Amino acid sequence: MTHDVTLISTIAAAFGFAFVLGYLAQRIHLPPLVGYLLAGVAIGPFSPVFVADGPMAAQLAEIGVMLLMFGVGLHFSTAELMAVRRIVVPGAVLQIVIATGIGVILAWGWGWSFGAGLVLGLSLSVASTVVLLKALEERNAVGTPNGRIVIGWLIVEDLVMVLALVLLPAFAEALGGQVPANVHSAGGGLLANLALTLIKLTAFVVILLVLGPRVMPWILRQVARTGSRELFTLCVLALAVGIAFGSAKLFDVSFALGAFFAGVVLSESELSHKAAANSLPLQDAFAVLFFVSVGMVFDPAILLQEPMKLLAVGGLIVVGKALIALGLVAALGFPLSTGLTAAAGLAQVGEFSFILAGLGFTYGLLPAEGLSLVLAGSLLSITMNPLLFALVDSLGERLRASPRWHQFFEEGRGYRFARLQAQMDASRVELEKKSARHRTIAPGELVSRFPLFSDLTPEQREVLLLHFHTRHGQPGERLIRIGDKADHVYFIAEGQVEVVPRGGAEKIKLGPGAFFGEMALLTGEPRSADVTALDFNTFLTLSRRDFRHFLRKHPTMREQIVALAEQRGAMNRTLLEAGLADTDPPVPVV
Ligand code: CMP
Repeated sequence: MTHDVTLISTIAAAFGFAFVLGYLAQRIHLPPLVGYLLAGVAIGPFSPVFVADGPMAAQLAEIGVMLLMFGVGLHFSTAELMAVRRIVVPGAVLQIVIATGIGVILAWGWGWSFGAGLVLGLSLSVASTVVLLKALEERNAVGTPNGRIVIGWLIVEDLVMVLALVLLPAFAEALGGQVPANVHSAGGGLLANLALTLIKLTAFVVILLVLGPRVMPWILRQVARTGSRELFTLCVLALAVGIAFGSAKLFDVSFALGAFFAGVVLSESELSHKAAANSLPLQDAFAVLFFVSVGMVFDPAILLQEPMKLLAVGGLIVVGKALIALGLVAALGFPLSTGLTAAAGLAQVGEFSFILAGLGFTYGLLPAEGLSLVLAGSLLSITMNPLLFALVDSLGERLRASPRWHQFFEEGRGYRFARLQAQMDASRVELEKKSARHRTIAPGELVSRFPLFSDLTPEQREVLLLHFHTRHGQPGERLIRIGDKADHVYFIAEGQVEVVPRGGAEKIKLGPGAFFGEMALLTGEPRSADVTALDFNTFLTLSRRDFRHFLRKHPTMREQIVALAEQRGAMNRTLLEAGLADTDPPVPVV
């Protein structure tokens, strides 16, 4: 029996070559990315070594782009984008306009149509998120103000590109292209096409943004309750890839956009960190396949056939875009250091460029040669990127050493930068406050605060923490009233509370590590005591349902909790029956 192993051989070759060449690249102080791209060239159809399956590799790469955009969505924060909008919106939009303009002029010089020039220019004007994030990560600069500005800049670029991807098919015929036979055209001309496209896009965004935040976090929470890490990871992947695929089918938006919005919706959930952490390894692996597949479609012949065109494209990406970014940041009044980071970070092209150029090619706008040029330009610019960063670093150092330059370009412009930084910090604080409402405590802290949970395995602790909600109490606040119906059990993380059982004969103080509210949940009777906050308290609470579930899963802990509740009940009965108000009270049961 013959069986087809194309997928396996493609994956094996891609991972194997990428690993070896990535490792070698790292050894000679180049980013591993360069190794991945060369691995693609090595196993691609233009090399004699090994021919992996091109379309298969392209599909695997698409999964890489989806997972990546899902990750970008998970970390996306509207508040932070708003904080940097004054620099990134004009910066990104103007950069795209100028770079596209240059692309159109270049194409005109080569005798290409306006449509071809537009697609080429747009493709070259957007930088790659993968490349930028990897470069910033390597330099530990993702969280720095300049890093955050450049990431915001790129998100605006991505959003503009999303619009371009959506609009291109609608305008294809007007620009001199034709709709491919396998694509249904609305048949009603440009305006009808455009309207249909925009309606679909709006429907997609509205449905996902309205329904998503209600449904998706709920699904994740249900799955988290099962305590199975594997089911949780599966759920995250199913949501990411499923939404990307489903939205592409239903609404004609790109996989990348669908996955990005799936991430944005999930980022609102308190489980987003866990989702991000679980999808990260797969994201890394498939991102590697993305780079390998880029290398695979690269035809080195273009170096010999069209060296001048390649030089022009490479020059526009590496030198042109860097200078445009530098100039725009300076014109917007921000310091040189920001301009230099933007110049180096954005002087490359990647995934969106291939997607856009590919679409332009399908619609007969961009010649095949244009597609090869974009790929060659991408390979060139990604390889040059680390060098550009190094150059920019040494340039920055040198300028900083010159007091006059420093004063003019850094201090003189420090005011705007400081204001921006303050806004970014404020948005971050806001974000942290929001996530603190969801966050309970770290799994490591759980046992030191609550010795009760010391028998749980690390995994069980993690699951338990998923079910806790944080609640705060103020001095004097009545948390539980005698006779009320019970809904929650409270674990005290901070501060003290006072328990006054029926009869009021005794006041019992409970502090951090103790719990209360368990008796009524266990017996099904009304609350047996008043409980009042004495300090500014922090509690971790469990709902009745989660508490019962927890007890069922951990019989030994159930015994301990039931025993303590019985002791407390017995003490209260003794107090009540004996009416011991004036004599020595018994030792409180905590
Ligand atoms: P519950 O009856 O649900 O609500 C009031 C809570 O006060 C009760 O659960 C116990 O957790 C707590 N409590 C009642 N009596 C005592 C006691 N004698 N010592 C400590 N805590 C008590």
